[in-house]
Amino acid sequence: MDTTQNEFDFESRIMDTEAIPEDTEQNDNPLRPKILDEYIGQEKVKQNLSIYMEAARQRKESLDHVLLYGPPGLGKTTLAGIIANEMGVSIRITSGPAIEKPGDLAALLTNLNPGDVLFIDEIHRLSRAVEEILYPSMEDFSIDIITGKGQMAASYHLPLPKFTLVGATTRAGQLTAPLRDRFGVVLRLELYSPQELATIIKRSAGILDIAIDDSGAEEIASRCRGTPRLANRLLKRVRDFAQVLSGGVITKENARTALQSLEIDELGLDQNDRRMLEAIIKYYKGGPVGLETLAAAIGEEAVTIEDVYEPYLMQIGFLSRTPRGRCITAAACAHLGYDFVGGANIKPTQQSLFGN
Ligand code: ADE
Repeated sequence: MDTTQNEFDFESRIMDTEAIPEDTEQNDNPLRPKILDEYIGQEKVKQNLSIYMEAARQRKESLDHVLLYGPPGLGKTTLAGIIANEMGVSIRITSGPAIEKPGDLAALLTNLNPGDVLFIDEIHRLSRAVEEILYPSMEDFSIDIITGKGQMAASYHLPLPKFTLVGATTRAGQLTAPLRDRFGVVLRLELYSPQELATIIKRSAGILDIAIDDSGAEEIASRCRGTPRLANRLLKRVRDFAQVLSGGVITKENARTALQSLEIDELGLDQNDRRMLEAIIKYYKGGPVGLETLAAAIGEEAVTIEDVYEPYLMQIGFLSRTPRGRCITAAACAHLGYDFVGGANIKPTQQSLFGN
């Protein structure tokens, strides 16, 4: 299987929502639910998807093309696997950057069986040339391939099996309109609630044979930024602490100790979140500050700020996006130990967490 794995540098943070090899083993990751009933949360998405799948099954048709979008780590690949499983077909997994040439896509498409799912992660990163041959493939289930050059050039019209394209993206706004319009089903995944995450953590603990009580699951759930990928990663790390330091069972107390050692605070913020928020406070008086300026100030890519840091910081009301740039909120200042005076003129309080 052409499973795409993102590069992982070992200095990157435990709270990075990008997938690491440990997360992406599609076949042997036992934590991935295989059927919709096992999938926790995203109730609206599940309700609609189950209707579309049942309707397609009744008509003995392949499912319409599906676009899944939302922040990283929420289960887009998992859902694609569930779709294939519930439709009784195979899945091929690839990603936008991995399909370099039109010929790469042609090779993938011509190897599909009727009804199969082709999952393209990061579909917004497809090249224009590849997108051009994806359109007729999605619409007419055929591709035109040109081989050779000049007098030797020849064009072939190849019919394709009726497949289902499942595209995933963190940034639906970056898809070209013609591509977006070719998806019959568009589903937006939301960050998970702490209750849903606690349920996911207990399910994962059961599968991995990890002892955890309700309060331990709730503690991890409240610090994993609404993201199951992080919940599962933190569960494994907290287990290490519980095993070595306190008899094995994850409880509220040892989860707190472990998460403190991992420098993840009560709200799930890590050093990088705090560094970014503090940069807005210290260098830009609480904002507004433009995305690119902020990115340069903290040595981070603008897309990482947008895709990884911001969704959660905005959800918890720590950051707002305005037409003039990013602004810190009073709640964020209070959390970091600064007085908030209307965006400008922010002073550290006595009990600043950072000693400044
Ligand atoms: N593991 C990761 N995401 C999940 C979800 N939504 N439900 C159950 N287990 C999961």
